[in-house]
Amino acid sequence: MTSWKERLAERTDPELTREIDAYQQQLELRKQGKIEDNLFQETRLRRGVYGQRYDNGQRHDGIAQRTLGFPCGDLRKGPETLWDAPGMMRIKIPFGELSPERLEVLSDLAEEYSDAVCHVTTRQDIQLHYVHIEDTPDLMRRLAAVGITSREACGNSVRNITACHKAGCCRGETFDVTPYARAAMRFLLGHQDTQDFGRKFKVTFSGCAGDACGLTSLHDLGYIAKLDEQGRRGFAVYVGGGLGPVPYQAKLFDEFVPEEQILPLAQAISRVFARYGEKKNRGRARMKFLVHKWGIEDFRAEVIKELEQLPEDPAWTAFLEEVAAYGEQPAKPGEALGPTDDALFEAWRASNTYRQRQSGYAIAMATLPLGDFTSQQGRQLADIARRYNGGHIRGTVDQNIVLRWVSEADLPALHADLQAIGLGQAGAGTITDVTSCPGTDTCKLGIASSRGLAAELSERLAAKSEQLDPKVRELQIKVSGCFNSCGQHHIADLGFYGVSRKMEGTTVPHFRAVLGARRENNAHEYGQTIGAIPSRRVPEFVDRLTSLYLEQREGEERFPDYIKRLGKKGLKPVLEEFSKVPPKALDRSYYTDWRDAREFNISDIGTGECAGAVISRIDFDLQEAERLHFEGQIALEEHDYRKADETAYAAMLEAAKALVRTQKPDVATDADTLVSEFRTRLYDSGLFQDRFAGGKFAQYLFRRHEDRDRAYREDDARHLLEETQLFIEAAYACQARLDEQPQRATGA
Ligand code: HEM
Ligand code: SF4
Repeated sequence: MTSWKERLAERTDPELTREIDAYQQQLELRKQGKIEDNLFQETRLRRGVYGQRYDNGQRHDGIAQRTLGFPCGDLRKGPETLWDAPGMMRIKIPFGELSPERLEVLSDLAEEYSDAVCHVTTRQDIQLHYVHIEDTPDLMRRLAAVGITSREACGNSVRNITACHKAGCCRGETFDVTPYARAAMRFLLGHQDTQDFGRKFKVTFSGCAGDACGLTSLHDLGYIAKLDEQGRRGFAVYVGGGLGPVPYQAKLFDEFVPEEQILPLAQAISRVFARYGEKKNRGRARMKFLVHKWGIEDFRAEVIKELEQLPEDPAWTAFLEEVAAYGEQPAKPGEALGPTDDALFEAWRASNTYRQRQSGYAIAMATLPLGDFTSQQGRQLADIARRYNGGHIRGTVDQNIVLRWVSEADLPALHADLQAIGLGQAGAGTITDVTSCPGTDTCKLGIASSRGLAAELSERLAAKSEQLDPKVRELQIKVSGCFNSCGQHHIADLGFYGVSRKMEGTTVPHFRAVLGARRENNAHEYGQTIGAIPSRRVPEFVDRLTSLYLEQREGEERFPDYIKRLGKKGLKPVLEEFSKVPPKALDRSYYTDWRDAREFNISDIGTGECAGAVISRIDFDLQEAERLHFEGQIALEEHDYRKADETAYAAMLEAAKALVRTQKPDVATDADTLVSEFRTRLYDSGLFQDRFAGGKFAQYLFRRHEDRDRAYREDDARHLLEETQLFIEAAYACQARLDEQPQRATGA
């Protein structure tokens, strides 16, 4: 069978093909033991290829730790991750934008390489689990053919850029933020100023200051659409938000930044974060800590200073032409629909549809249980979208999927079709639609089963949803498996995160309650952390607390106000009612987790991979040099001497760039500049000189650079490749000497 690379060559952007080829070569180099565990880990993380729970080959079966049989000997894809162990693949879907074609490809990939389930995350990505590392290049190629990249889906990079799922259709938005989110995504992806962060960097776009679709407060960088007095477009910009164990609200950076300045500003902020953000202590490395340490005024001043020094880039404004031309086209005319006498449909319509600002159209939401859809459902959804709405589909931060531009008159038929594929449940955005991170099912850091609890809660609540008071029905529950908050429990009415407690010498799964967040104004107030409740009792706790709210609320008091009024003291009795754990002999159920038959144990927790290790930029550049050298050797074997020669030369330039960048981060990357900068900063300065070889290896680069008249003979190519190998070695030795210097120069 022809390879996916050959089959998709015509349909794939050459840049994406090059990137995936490079990744595939790195995979090969790792297999040959030529790349170290740490470096390969960060390489694959930056392409969205993660570890998964139990991938260290250990699993506790409730009685003792057992070794799982992954067959690949000592080979690892990270310090603690065995080669053949299944892994997770995070696929970036900028602002959640899907299409029937994308859904079909994702469904095929899930079926062929994973467990036939696609998972929508709280940042509008799609994740596949149980993927084998050797399948990842093909998987990436098939995604690239439909314009999707998993590049920088993880690691210390700019993550998926999110935006309101209603953008362009929302009645309350200032303007459609979609083309701006797309421009920022293109501009920041792989940008040289975003490659040296100490931690991840999350960006979002919101169409208004009021609603919580964009969740600006919890992002490193958030833009909220705004018009100035002259009606010109721009954004209020917020920085330094984030959840995790220590949640921070983003701070206002600027009331109004005109549209043509949003990209340079993002670039300047990235530079400041890369230069001054913490690199060693991972727990303090997010931008929120830098903003907090300096204070917003000093942070702003530093960014403005940086902005003034930035060299002009045409990409800053080139996208504005696209903005003007941007607009989604509906597939058919929008036709209004009055009330119907179908109660089931009307219940779904009330919770799962939204009247667009374009008359006669609605956004319809398919409620995904726990954010999952199967491969079969994915294909069926694609078919439905083709028939009803021209294929305008987006994932949401509440882990659902929306179909935009549905003619209202089609809603009853659409509902029936969604029901037929198991995605027509009512209750989107209500208490039955529980958000959850992957937790102990697949996440290495999970403490308690967030998905188990979320499934239990949503089933129990859905079974009685008709009897629920509307004031309770409108509440939201979000669950995380640990304090890292991937389920965004800080922004729920009722949030929970997994913890464990020791009782009689055994561990008992618990969830700590975080109550009463206010989601309005882009989630401007996080919930209060209250006590821990045994996992078993959380559903009863939810019932009790919501009943108390109905009994005790004053007038029209909202749930967050009620929680605030009660405070920790007022909530203590209800917590105490549920916090006791009976001895195991009386009730064993407390000692197991939801939907997990094993006796509870936390020894499966591994080292988190989401953030990877901090690998400096020079390591990456040198690794790229090695990869190019490897590519050159392959070309030599294939008797393509011209390619072997040119790739070897490119490898030397790459290694030189790695070193020059330690002295001049912004160096231009054309060959003449690189070689001249290398000569003055590394060679003439003596930094590159070796005690034994002196500057000999540098001469290899100078000679090749000056010798433009090449004959491309086999012998010459072979020699150059040998010289390249020595030059790269010398670059590593030079790196080690630079590291020993007290402080690395970063000047201009
Ligand atoms: C592969 C397993 C994962 C690991 C090891 C992991 C790890 C982490 C860590 C350590 C944080 C805290 C960030 C900080 O304090 O700087 C975090 C935050 C977060 N993660 Fe994950 N995560 C994983 C999967 C997920 C998934 C599947 C989602 C989406 C459902 C997700 C979404 C988020 C969100 C929304 C936050 C909070 C926002 C913020 O970054 O501050 N993560 N994650
Ligand atoms: S909150 Fe914890 S358990 Fe859940 S995905 Fe994040 S790191 Fe894993």
